[in-house]
Amino acid sequence: MNASQKLLAWKCFIRFPLFLLACWVLTFPLFADEPASPSQKQSQQDSKNTLYTYQRDHDPNGIGKFYRGREIARVMGYQGAPWLERKAREQEERLSLLPRALKLKPGMAIADIGAGSGVISVILADHVSPGGNVYAVDVQQEMLELLNKKLEKQGVKNIHPVLGTQKSPGLKPASIDLVIMVDVYHEFEFPFEMMQEISKALKPKGRVVLVEYRKEDPAVPIKLVHKMSEAQAKKEVARPELNLKWKETIGVLPRQHILVFEKTEAK
Ligand SMILES: C[S@@+](CC[C@H](N)C(=O)[O-])C[C@H]1O[C@@H](n2cnc3c(N)ncnc32)[C@H](O)[C@@H]1O
Repeated sequence: MNASQKLLAWKCFIRFPLFLLACWVLTFPLFADEPASPSQKQSQQDSKNTLYTYQRDHDPNGIGKFYRGREIARVMGYQGAPWLERKAREQEERLSLLPRALKLKPGMAIADIGAGSGVISVILADHVSPGGNVYAVDVQQEMLELLNKKLEKQGVKNIHPVLGTQKSPGLKPASIDLVIMVDVYHEFEFPFEMMQEISKALKPKGRVVLVEYRKEDPAVPIKLVHKMSEAQAKKEVARPELNLKWKETIGVLPRQHILVFEKTEAK
């Protein structure tokens, strides 16, 4: 190679990377992501999150978020506590039948998730005494304050209020014999995440009980998104990832299903 050929090769060696850099700078705007608008951000998140979908047109009592084809209901605010505490409730719903239907025994650890003002916790607490406890979980501090007042007034010692989050009841792993949710599950904003945490909190062979207004029965006087069909509840709860299997549906209540699921061995 003579001197002029060497100089030419050297120039090419220097210029080629510069040429590539120039190409990249000029074409970059064609390939780069534009900053997403808030609505684009939402739909990008949704397309990554295959668990939930969203719809603008939806039931006014729902939140426009859907899980396995069901719209999630709005959470009942603490202002609704007088409705939970109404005198006619026992006559209408017969919830005092729950301890017998669920074969509660002294010494059991129960979690009443979505306890609200504590109507259900109080019904259950006596039936796990002596030695048993009820953990009354709710996401609304105001509900837990109403519950605390009731516990003080009635001198109940084995109900323990717990402030949970939308994604977790904050219970210790493998600590609970039975989780009960009366008129609650359909309000979970993150039902899959909640059920994952609930499953972890159960002891082996522990039970999860959903007490839900029967959607199959149009005579049950409750707003549609606050009802659940048996088939839908099974579709959501008996998913293999949750290690829960349907055990039985108890039909003793006039308005609600009692759906019982049991914890299986983790796969
Ligand atoms: C309709 S009330 C039922 C209260 C009670 N179970 C009863 O039957 O009297 C539903 C309750 O579930 C609570 N809730 C909703 N989502 C929750 C969650 N992710 N974790 C715990 N509580 C929740 C609400 O704050 C509300 O107090």
